Amino acid sequence: MLNLSTKRVCVTGGGGFLGSFLCGKLSARGVKDIFVPRRRDYDLTTEAGIEKLFRDARPEVLFHLAAVVGGIGANLESPGRFFYENAIMGIQLIEAARRYAVEKTIVAGTICAYPKFTPAPFREETLWDGYPEETNAPYGIAKKALLVQCQAYRQQYGMNAIYLLPVNLYGMRDNFDLESSHVIPALIRKCIEARDRGDKSIVCWGDGTATREFLFVEDAADGLLAAAEKYDGAEPVNLGSGAEITIKDLVHTVARACNFTGEILWDTSRPNGQPRRLLDTSRAENWFGFRANTLLDEGLLKTVQWYEQTCGRVKTHTRTRRTIRSMASLGSAELSCFGSSDKAAC
Ligand SMILES: NC(=O)c1ccc[n+]([C@@H]2O[C@H](COP(=O)([O-])OP(=O)(O)OC[C@H]3O[C@@H](n4cnc5c(N)ncnc54)[C@H](OP(=O)(O)O)[C@@H]3O)[C@@H](O)[C@H]2O)c1
Repeated sequence: MLNLSTKRVCVTGGGGFLGSFLCGKLSARGVKDIFVPRRRDYDLTTEAGIEKLFRDARPEVLFHLAAVVGGIGANLESPGRFFYENAIMGIQLIEAARRYAVEKTIVAGTICAYPKFTPAPFREETLWDGYPEETNAPYGIAKKALLVQCQAYRQQYGMNAIYLLPVNLYGMRDNFDLESSHVIPALIRKCIEARDRGDKSIVCWGDGTATREFLFVEDAADGLLAAAEKYDGAEPVNLGSGAEITIKDLVHTVARACNFTGEILWDTSRPNGQPRRLLDTSRAENWFGFRANTLLDEGLLKTVQWYEQTCGRVKTHTRTRRTIRSMASLGSAELSCFGSSDKAAC
């Protein structure tokens, strides 16, 4: 078992949603040396940014979480950027980790890499059985290329790089920007704003029949840590909760958690995305003892409470993730000074 507490650890994307929880948990594990390269100081799409990072951080353990991420809308709007930036960042970073002899590299992939019509639950063995769902294929394939790189580098150079496939995440400090967020934060914000305006209905994308699986962000961070400590294999591993829910049921659950009692309407001209998403989580459990322990209802309540406490007092309708993260670290008196110009870049 790898003892992280004695290592110099670098977390790319450590200022992000998942990364911030991972850093908190690393710190709680006793890791003293945690380096988080922010994009404004280390642009990891550039070789110069990557070289500077390795010179400054000299990591022994590297978590690669930095990515350009978003929901269906953001993926449809910027497929080229999602492909290029995710591919170039990961490829250069893993190559640098090899050259700088990093002891262990943990790469976050995504289940958007799975084929569109994979039989559910998705087993890691089926990852290459078809083309991903079109709306997020550029993102999914860019990240899947990093799995090939990890396996090739393990084979040729003996590099210890592992690859994990987290399912859709949700939780506190998520991206609540309606244009670029994932389904749960978008729904929470929609329901709360509709409730506060007294709207009689909200409109959701698709027809509600698609299914999804969600993992609470704190559980995902636990999964990354467990894998870093106990897993040293070439095979990719799913990180999920193993619980499937239809979008229709999800919308009703979120509406309840937000006390929104209006009608739910469906815009069927909008895409559903991948028809089913459910992971087989047995590898994670058998290979490094990871099991998610937060139920969706429980995680949603925590997330809604966090959102209401942190963001409820800000009036702007173009609040963004960076704004919200900034707010999380400030006293309530300072909240109103954030305006719509603080637009998140991802
Ligand atoms: N969220 C999900 O549902 C989900 C599901 C499956 C897998 N994942 C994977 O989990 C990882 C973390 O996702 P997340 O939701 O936490 O994303 P996030 O909140 O958007 O965080 C991503 C981070 O990447 C950093 N980044 C982006 N471009 C960069 C660049 N050019 N140079 C340096 N840093 C850059 C950003 O740094 P700054 O903050 O400094 O700008 C940001 O903090 C990603 O690899 C994602 O693919 C996420």
